[in-house]
Amino acid sequence: MKERLEFLKGPGGLRAAAYFGLKLLTRIDVFRIVWIFAQSSKPLMLPSGWRYLSLYTGEALSNLSSDIIERAADQCGSNPKQLLGRGGSLHLLLAGDSLVAQLSIERGPTCRIDSPPLYLRMAETDAFLSYLYTWPEYRRQGAAQRLIAATVSDLSTRNVHRIIAHIRATNVPSLAAFEHTDWKTGAMMICTLRGRLLMAPGATSAGLTFRSAI
Ligand SMILES: CC(C)(COP(=O)(O)OP(=O)(O)OC[C@H]1O[C@@H](n2cnc3c(N)ncnc32)[C@H](O)[C@@H]1OP(=O)(O)O)[C@@H](O)C(=O)NCCC(=O)NCCS
Repeated sequence: MKERLEFLKGPGGLRAAAYFGLKLLTRIDVFRIVWIFAQSSKPLMLPSGWRYLSLYTGEALSNLSSDIIERAADQCGSNPKQLLGRGGSLHLLLAGDSLVAQLSIERGPTCRIDSPPLYLRMAETDAFLSYLYTWPEYRRQGAAQRLIAATVSDLSTRNVHRIIAHIRATNVPSLAAFEHTDWKTGAMMICTLRGRLLMAPGATSAGLTFRSAI
């Protein structure tokens, strides 16, 4: 209860509460489609002992301990090896041997989104960010914001022009993490609670096509 009240007081908390009410009344889920143009950022400032790691190849993955790979796999939807095998990448913040936060990147022009179940068509130089996750003991320390900023900077050196993500309109911490790192809301997506896409206003003009996978 205390956590929920804190959510309400947080940035965007009341707006998120309104979307939550809408969800209860209409049985629809609203997502924000946000993006940022890839650019190198100022040097990453990390708390002592933390490091940022980006993994693009199976070889890079094999340098990590199997324990870290297993923990990361729990939060990245598919096996990290498969993600890298289809051209994606895994981005991690580590504190010693502990995982602090992680996210996955899929490269354009098409990718599968797990929740809600969708296919996304985008430009070849677009990338899709998903599975942003901060391990509970490291939350509210700026980990998500730092990881997002480091990843945007890293992708700018790899022929990625724009990075896209979707965020449930009720997810206050996630909305705040993207807003604080200068992502812009470019479109919305409206789905049934079972995940069927109803409409995606603003998507077509942004060069994005979402298609239900159910
Ligand atoms: C969303 C998530 C990744 C944020 O991770 P985090 O490392 O705690 O985020 P940050 O510390 O960078 O904080 C981001 C901002 O969100 C807001 N925020 C974070 N937690 C909050 C909470 N419990 N209540 C209200 N606002 C909150 C704050 O504005 C915070 O910045 P501040 O602490 O400087 O004010 C994390 O909560 C998480 O893993 N949640 C579960 C998975 C998830 O929802 N992923 C996102 C899918 S799109």
